[in-house]
Amino acid sequence: MKWKLQRVEYYVNKCNGPPIIFLLGNALECIYSPKVLIKRVFDYAKQYESPLRGWLFHIPYVGIYTPEDIQMLTTKCLEKDSVFDFLGELIGDGVLTTKVAKWRRSRRIMNSAFNMTVMSKPFLEVFNRQSLVLIDQLKAEVNSKEYFDLWPYIFKSTFSNIIETAMGHTHGINEDDFTKMRKSYEVASEMICKRVYRPWLRPPFVFKLYLFLMGKKNVLNEFKQLPLKILEARRQMFTERKLLESSSEGKAEEKNDKSYKNVIDILLNQAEAEDQFTNQEIADEVTTILFAGSETNAITISFTLFMLAIRQDIQEKVYNELSEVFGEDDRLPTMEDLNQLVYLEQCIKETLRFVTVAPLSSRVSSEDITLSSGHLIPAGVSIVAAYVLMHRDEKYYSNPSQWNPANFDADKVASRPAGAFVPFGYGPRKCLGYKYAYLAIKTLLSTLLRNYKFSTDFREEDVELTIDILLRSATPYRVKVECRHKTSLFS
Ligand code: HEM
Repeated sequence: MKWKLQRVEYYVNKCNGPPIIFLLGNALECIYSPKVLIKRVFDYAKQYESPLRGWLFHIPYVGIYTPEDIQMLTTKCLEKDSVFDFLGELIGDGVLTTKVAKWRRSRRIMNSAFNMTVMSKPFLEVFNRQSLVLIDQLKAEVNSKEYFDLWPYIFKSTFSNIIETAMGHTHGINEDDFTKMRKSYEVASEMICKRVYRPWLRPPFVFKLYLFLMGKKNVLNEFKQLPLKILEARRQMFTERKLLESSSEGKAEEKNDKSYKNVIDILLNQAEAEDQFTNQEIADEVTTILFAGSETNAITISFTLFMLAIRQDIQEKVYNELSEVFGEDDRLPTMEDLNQLVYLEQCIKETLRFVTVAPLSSRVSSEDITLSSGHLIPAGVSIVAAYVLMHRDEKYYSNPSQWNPANFDADKVASRPAGAFVPFGYGPRKCLGYKYAYLAIKTLLSTLLRNYKFSTDFREEDVELTIDILLRSATPYRVKVECRHKTSLFS
């Protein structure tokens, strides 16, 4: 045992990294605010070539940020490290957090629920409907003299998107339930972050005591309650639909519409057909989707709008592209329209590079791993695929600390390795919802930007980032909106 620890220490300390303090390792970094911490990590990555090591007391971490190493790790090593267990306490044992042994089955079934050849049409219908709701809600802010924060509007909208695409219309669940769930999600997510960055909160009994002392004893359960409630409602509707389908009248209807239009029905169908999923397992997968797909999309949309509000010249270029595709037509976007919005997509990709929303994925291997630099990482050590650090590397992006959609001009993309841009990860555990995300983000942004012009009093140099589980802007998304047309395109 002692020999094993010495071996880990020997090899980990052969990697680059800032000085280590006796017993503490690099744990003093945790005293910095998340805003400062992320800046320090960016600086370390400039100073030290990949792999970068850090010690949280006695726990070693090795960060990698070259395309070759990230591709190798995420292809070869599918087991996530113990940090994902803390996340699992919030969102359950779904495809994002579960151990490899169970993950293969979950992923296969979830892939079928997110098969975009089948699902893009029903999903687009939801995204279009929700865009109109948002357009309507923003009317309250049009021409106001005060700046307002975009975040609550956008988060509510992406949350509604994910609820409807994941669970369909949910009778008996009202707006209050969703608001409660959004709120408990925010608190639960904050508590999980504290546990990740403050290792003394990691032992389960200490964390339970901490939640109790903070008056947040039930917060993790609260977040999981709504999906279970919705599941019950859906199961009942699903059974009724099945009964109808088996009746003669229903059979005629079934001919016209055989497809399921939301994730939960697909899972219920699987559960019935192959006895695959228990109620708890379905609820865990649904909670995972709510977690993985709502804030991530909301950050990408809000940040892109915010940067466009700062960079009026780029916003005009996006608007010109939209005008070319739609003219004065008030139709909602089709898949063909969205495919033509090449420059808007460049802006979205630049946001995903600049604020790599899911910045890291940590894996743990049961075998020693040799990196492209020749460093050996012993089995059992957490290796962090630091997507965000690769996206900030001058080797692949000129002037990487500036937001610049020209980074995704065709010639620039062709001149760097394909693996140097992986905001959705890489390998078999790559984001399950990346096509969904592009579709949802592009739909919402295109409709908003056709209708409204955004401006702000912030400048590029004011924009700061912060990190919790996700990377996001620390600067509030404070903007003003005005209508592009005399009357709203979609009134
Ligand atoms: C801008 C939006 C999004 C970003 C940047 C993003 C990014 C990521 C990343 C980096 C991973 C981890 C890959 C790894 O471990 O190496 C991931 C996993 C995952 N994402 Fe996303 N994601 C986004 C939106 C979504 C959406 C909309 C959904 C669902 C509707 C989703 C569902 C998932 C799931 C289920 C996993 C776990 C996959 C697995 O372990 O097999 N994500 N995402």
